[in-house]
Amino acid sequence: MSYKEYVSRDYKPARTDIICEFNFKPAKGVSVLDAAGGIAAESSVGTWDKVMTETKKVSNMRAIAYYVRKNIVRIAYPLELFEPGNISQLLSSVAGNVFGMDILNSLLLKDIIFPKNYVKSFKGPRHGINGLRKKFKIYDRPLIGTIIKPKIGLSSSQHAKIAFKAWVGGCDIVKDDENLTNQDFNPFKLRVNKTLALMRKAEQLTGEKKAYLANVTAPYDEMLKRVKYVEKAGGTHIMIDVLTVGWSALQEIRKHTKLPIHAHRAMHAAMTRSEDFGMSMKVIAKLCRLIGVDQLHTGGILGKMSESKNEVLETVEAITSKKNDLGMLKQVMPVASGGLYPGVVEKLVKILGKDVIIQAGGGIHGHPRGTEAGAKAMRQALHAAIERIPLKRYAETHEELKEAIKKWGVKK
Ligand code: 3PG
Ligand code: 3PG
Ligand code: MG
Repeated sequence: MSYKEYVSRDYKPARTDIICEFNFKPAKGVSVLDAAGGIAAESSVGTWDKVMTETKKVSNMRAIAYYVRKNIVRIAYPLELFEPGNISQLLSSVAGNVFGMDILNSLLLKDIIFPKNYVKSFKGPRHGINGLRKKFKIYDRPLIGTIIKPKIGLSSSQHAKIAFKAWVGGCDIVKDDENLTNQDFNPFKLRVNKTLALMRKAEQLTGEKKAYLANVTAPYDEMLKRVKYVEKAGGTHIMIDVLTVGWSALQEIRKHTKLPIHAHRAMHAAMTRSEDFGMSMKVIAKLCRLIGVDQLHTGGILGKMSESKNEVLETVEAITSKKNDLGMLKQVMPVASGGLYPGVVEKLVKILGKDVIIQAGGGIHGHPRGTEAGAKAMRQALHAAIERIPLKRYAETHEELKEAIKKWGVKK
């Protein structure tokens, strides 16, 4: 059959429709309109042939490809196709079977625009940027974080001691790495106890508020127990690998804790990196804001990860804008991470502004004089950037920064 009945360039989307924008390429021998209509059909009420069971009411619930130009299609979905507050169901529709259809040679979900009523069925971030800033009492600069390195393999005591050095050196935040959870060499509870104890000591020593992002990633029941453990232990945040634990688990955890949620996006590139099939990081980020994480990895631009500056800026805009479709929800704090070091800070602040957490693992623990000096160098670089003091000049009187620049250079 022809999918063309799912295409109507005259259709004006209703204010209540969910709109998806896809980039697509039809397979050989398939027309552009059939491909565009096929996406709308399979992601809403249709299948490969007209079925005798399709009632008038169901026909009226069809998604409509209302804009088709070159390789871009925008599809409007009536809101009644979606269950409020259910991200899994949303994705099973608009990011489900469609990716496997043989009429398509490529399909990328670039954006989803949500109507007010759908957004209202989610809670959004509990704390958001303002809430986080209040906790730290830091209003005028980006936050500096580190990831304990090596990623995994250290004992709980070693982990806590390195965290202590990072905090004393000037990090606001210390986080577990994405693949550190509860291994024999570093059991979760022991790590949380030891690290939080030294966090408090670092707070006393520095007079600054510090945070520890404990990675609670696990099968759901166990994850919830870990969240409760962190709460009882007086922890400041929980960290979740949001994609590997799954949307449903994330939604539930959002309900069950008041602690800020740090969202690590490990595995996103399996969906975002291919130019043939997948979805944009922006879409993933919007889902995270809907559900209600407080901090999200959005890309480091100048580091070791592959995303372009524009991609990162689009993602950041999606989670921080007060004017976009999610503007009624609190803002999620962007996290720049992956291959960063003191010499990139000035440029990064110029690009991303002050509302960002800048994280460095190798760029702190790889400092020739170790973690504390590495953290100092990051804070010095940040101070220079905020005060607009040329980095190299500031380094003349700041030994740690000088050594960091000697080792890694300055990003022009
Ligand atoms: C990302 O943004 O995906 C990172 O590069 C990895 O983040 P990490 O610093 O916490 O591991
Ligand atoms: C990662 O896993 O990519 C990190 O946690 C970031 O670490 P890096 O600063 O050493 O790249
Ligand atoms: Mg990591």
